[in-house]
Amino acid sequence: MEYFENFLWGAFPWLAIVAFFVGIFWRWRTDQFGWTTHSTQIYESKLLRVSSPLFHWGMVFVIVGHLMGLAIPKSWTQSVGISDEFYHLIATYPGALAAIATCLGLAGLIYRRVVNRSVFLATSRSDKVMYVLLGGAILTGTIATLTLQLFDIQGTHGYDYRESISPWLRNLLIFNIQPELMSEVPWPFKLHVLAGFTLIAVWPFTRLVHAFSAPVGYVNRPYVVYRSRDSRTTDMRSHVAWEPVRSPHSQLDRDTDNNKRADKTRPPRSS
Ligand code: HEM
Repeated sequence: MEYFENFLWGAFPWLAIVAFFVGIFWRWRTDQFGWTTHSTQIYESKLLRVSSPLFHWGMVFVIVGHLMGLAIPKSWTQSVGISDEFYHLIATYPGALAAIATCLGLAGLIYRRVVNRSVFLATSRSDKVMYVLLGGAILTGTIATLTLQLFDIQGTHGYDYRESISPWLRNLLIFNIQPELMSEVPWPFKLHVLAGFTLIAVWPFTRLVHAFSAPVGYVNRPYVVYRSRDSRTTDMRSHVAWEPVRSPHSQLDRDTDNNKRADKTRPPRSS
């Protein structure tokens, strides 16, 4: 059991961190043209217009909360006069709101992928894996925050992760591995930390890489050109995160008809 705990809270997070950095380097060297959001706005924009900002702004606040709670030692906030009760309040209420916004946004993004046929066909295998792992990390974090912090089901006025998870992570990152700090952590948080590191490990192999180029890189890079291709006639170059975008047959047939009609009405070229 001790061996397993050492693996979970010592080796696994570091394997994920190494996979993340090696993966980012590999992806940058081999697939710069695939380094994009693979936006599907061209197919559907109504649901996207609501879900995407809800998800992304929710995530911005979640990330700020993580940096605050995990990186800043408890003694620092205490030394500037922030009591533990006050810290718990400012972490829990905005954290719960951000979590709900992120979950609603993610649900909207997944819903449009399922119900809109063109968006569904533009969803690669790596997207599907990514949505499951992203959903896992977000759901477990939300469940932990809502049950243990907001509704306080343990009756302990919230779980103080700044005594366990936060020092464990800070020490882990400076190679001072202390798995025992995680032993008493409630299971929703344990599950969340493992889900978080699993997502970090697969991050470079998914469309999530766009997080490192948005929004600055988008200002001066060339446009991404989208063309529909008929999968029945075109050779495809395959890539792990970059499957060819498929189109519904009805749309391909409509495009072919439109092209034929345009050819008929076009005046003959003079030689
Ligand atoms: C990278 C993927 C991750 C995602 C998408 C994610 C997402 C979330 C979400 C949505 C919440 C609930 C909202 C909030 O309270 O901020 C949350 C809470 C939390 N997460 Fe994560 N998380 C990730 C990784 C991690 C990791 C690696 C750790 C620790 C090592 C961690 C520790 C926590 C803690 C302690 C909370 C509770 C914050 C509070 O209630 O004040 N998370 N996470």
